[in-house]
Amino acid sequence: LSSSNMSKRKVFVTRPDVPAAGLNMLKERFDVSTWSEERPVPREELVKQVQGKDALFCMLTDKIDKELLDNAGKHLKVIGTMSVGYDHIDVAEVRSRGIRIGYTPDVLTDAVAELTIALLLATSRRLFEGHQQILDGKWSAWAPTWMCGVELKHSTVGIVGFGRIGQGVARRLNGFSVNRILYSGRYEKPEGKEIGATHVSFDDLVSESDFIIVTCALTPETKEMFNDAVFAKMKQNVIFINTSRGGVVDQPALQRALENRTILAAGLDVTTPEPLPPTHPLLQLKNCVIVPHIGSATTWTRGEMCILTARNIIAALDDKPMPAEVL
Ligand code: DGY
Repeated sequence: LSSSNMSKRKVFVTRPDVPAAGLNMLKERFDVSTWSEERPVPREELVKQVQGKDALFCMLTDKIDKELLDNAGKHLKVIGTMSVGYDHIDVAEVRSRGIRIGYTPDVLTDAVAELTIALLLATSRRLFEGHQQILDGKWSAWAPTWMCGVELKHSTVGIVGFGRIGQGVARRLNGFSVNRILYSGRYEKPEGKEIGATHVSFDDLVSESDFIIVTCALTPETKEMFNDAVFAKMKQNVIFINTSRGGVVDQPALQRALENRTILAAGLDVTTPEPLPPTHPLLQLKNCVIVPHIGSATTWTRGEMCILTARNIIAALDDKPMPAEVL
């Protein structure tokens, strides 16, 4: 078949509002269809739309499992997720069918590290609470002890998940004159020395840190690793920050820890479920700051994530090495 009479390969994109630069790269080469609404594609629709497609461009809100793959048919060659996390994909199931997976590491590292620092400061310096005090007419005058928080200077910060994002957070923390940066994980990493971070056991990190920052991937190993027992081991004035996945936290346990002041405060970019209902009890707590999974949400980063997802798909459909493949 010559390329002129070879029918174009088909790509389904699960959102209509992905940044244009990446989408156009796909449209130049392939027959691209997109879900029509700016909300996650409903499951039945996804199952229907994936049929007969050569590639799927998906989000972290799309569950990729056996049922979906059974429906996809034999043409499906690649799944490109516009995210660095791929816990929504049953990787073993996808691989067993010879389908390749692309993801978006590196391009979002700085945006997520910045958001992590923003959330850390918003929580430790009580920014949202202060804003609410003004709206409630409670800002009567400057007062010596009103709205006091805690500072990073001279503190011990523990990072759980010392990969690209965790290291990006650690590098930024060096500008805040913290006393020690600790990280846990199976292995000591060469970057630790360069950044000035010390490898310790998870237990030591939990009991010695004034701030605990979670930037690890969600895996069967990390699922709900922050539970009652772990919160009980933390210092009472600890601030807990999570920008990874809600699933690494036993959320009712976190709620108890915050309500009982076992820990001082928490800042969360990720929750269970997402979206968190506006009436959720965690949102009623003054010592809990929550933002709606916006770690990578800068215009530049989302553009780059989309371009990388498109490049991954193009490479796989061309049978070439993908720029970022889940191996
Ligand atoms: C990811 O990419 O996995 C982040 O959670 C959102 O960008």
